Amino acid sequence: MSRASRKGFVIAIDGPAGVGKSTIGTLVAKELGYRFINTGDMYRALTWKALEEGIDTRDGVALTRLAERLAWDFKANEDGVIIRTVIDGHPVTTQIREERVGMNSSLVAGVPGVRRKLRALQRKLGNQGSIVMEGRAITTVVFPDAAFKVYLDASIEERARRRTKQLRGGGKKADLSKIRESIIQRAMQDLQRRINPLRQAEDAVVIDSTSLTMLEVAGKILELVRRKR
Ligand code: C5P
Repeated sequence: MSRASRKGFVIAIDGPAGVGKSTIGTLVAKELGYRFINTGDMYRALTWKALEEGIDTRDGVALTRLAERLAWDFKANEDGVIIRTVIDGHPVTTQIREERVGMNSSLVAGVPGVRRKLRALQRKLGNQGSIVMEGRAITTVVFPDAAFKVYLDASIEERARRRTKQLRGGGKKADLSKIRESIIQRAMQDLQRRINPLRQAEDAVVIDSTSLTMLEVAGKILELVRRKR
């Protein structure tokens, strides 16, 4: 039986930047035999394509047109868990991690027409079931009726520490105080943005991971899912 026909739950995860949503979401999906998608990758893929085509990332009309025109596809990695975004037949992976893409993606993600298109794609993926989906507004707007809604939180100090460790682990230089500053700035932007700001769904399970390991947080989510099963 295919994953889709088993139609397991939709597990929606939101929370501030640097809290470990993707790591935790992947751990949960692996354990359940579900798929995982970081929906931020979809906004990043569109941003990358816009930059490649020389489209101004403040031009909402052109960005909406681009989002509508592209052929979107989603393919699982070899492990069958992590879903990658494919646009016009090309998987986009490393290029969407570029700094210029990250910087521009919050502008792109603020365009209503872009959000409408990507929301429809996210709902289509979610309607196949058995999926862990993370990203802004997934618990509040995209899947307000998801079987599980999790809001992950952690102190700014801890998020800065994790991000520094992650960068240093990847061989990059990282300054803790600069990273702390940028996390504070991003948190303000996320809370204040006009369209789909960071918001806790009323019925989301809130997990503060400040003093927990990623495995412990994943374990808590899995326990909730198993109880419901
Ligand atoms: O999480 P990540 O940095 O990869 O997301 C890229 C951009 O897309 C960010 O500005 C983020 O706020 C935005 N985003 C969004 N809605 C989502 C996922 C990401 O607006 N569901």
